[in-house]
Amino acid sequence: MSTTLSSQLQGRHIIVTGGFGALGRALGAVLAERGARVALLDVAEPPAGLQPNARLLLRGGVDLNDGAASVAAFDAAADVLGGVDALVNVAGGFAWETLSGGSVATWDRMYEMNLRTAVIGAQAVLPHLKARGAGRIVNIGALASQKAGGGMGAYAAAKAGVARLTEALAEELKGDAITVNAVLPSIIDTPANRAAMPDADCTRWVSPQALAGVIAFLLSDEGAPITGACLPVAGRV
Ligand SMILES: NC(=O)c1ccc[n+]([C@@H]2O[C@H](COP(=O)([O-])OP(=O)(O)OC[C@H]3O[C@@H](n4cnc5c(N)ncnc54)[C@H](OP(=O)(O)O)[C@@H]3O)[C@@H](O)[C@H]2O)c1
Repeated sequence: MSTTLSSQLQGRHIIVTGGFGALGRALGAVLAERGARVALLDVAEPPAGLQPNARLLLRGGVDLNDGAASVAAFDAAADVLGGVDALVNVAGGFAWETLSGGSVATWDRMYEMNLRTAVIGAQAVLPHLKARGAGRIVNIGALASQKAGGGMGAYAAAKAGVARLTEALAEELKGDAITVNAVLPSIIDTPANRAAMPDADCTRWVSPQALAGVIAFLLSDEGAPITGACLPVAGRV
């Protein structure tokens, strides 16, 4: 399918947290291909295979659990980009652990990685979006937030928090022309998932590029009427 007919993002300035992971990297490429300038932020350092260019800024060592450091990183990205139109909160992580064999520390870690990062990201970007008079925020939730399987409690609870954050912030910002939505993937076709589930039929999983296309739509002009949505993007799982 030609991207010339797909959601265009010419001139948009977009921050992506968790930008060096599997989805973040694919998303950066898709958004830049559609005309955006993108700042990928991550707690990790840029991986060797990922190179910056005129459309892709890379900032490592940014911990989205550190509020002050995140505000400084967002402000610096806004200075380089010339303002910010949108944020995609990709930073997150997964743990499978039963209650009987597990630790409450896992619940704290899932909350910090998935929900706290999204709250801090949203608070860091809001002054920039309000200065623009419009904007977009897309959070990455999870289909498991709607019904958790065994061992998925800590992760699903944190992602359910991302869904409630999405809804509450969308309501809060309806007067500001800033939309807030979440996508809810099931299993993304990443190298980590292929390694963890070698016998699974990965053709049923959603690819990072396909998920990035859905996110690009929510970021585009066509996505303007949608806010407060938690959109399942589950491929054929
Ligand atoms: N993969 C799936 O099947 C799947 C399914 C549903 C939802 N999701 C969600 O989709 C998102 C992306 O998944 P993915 O597979 O691309 O994960 P990933 O490859 O692990 O990428 C996530 C990135 O976020 C970074 N990160 C974690 N905590 C951070 C923090 N405090 N500050 C800044 N960056 C931080 C990670 O760094 P480190 O590696 O150094 O921790 C990593 O680079 C996540 O929110 C995940 O929960 C994934």
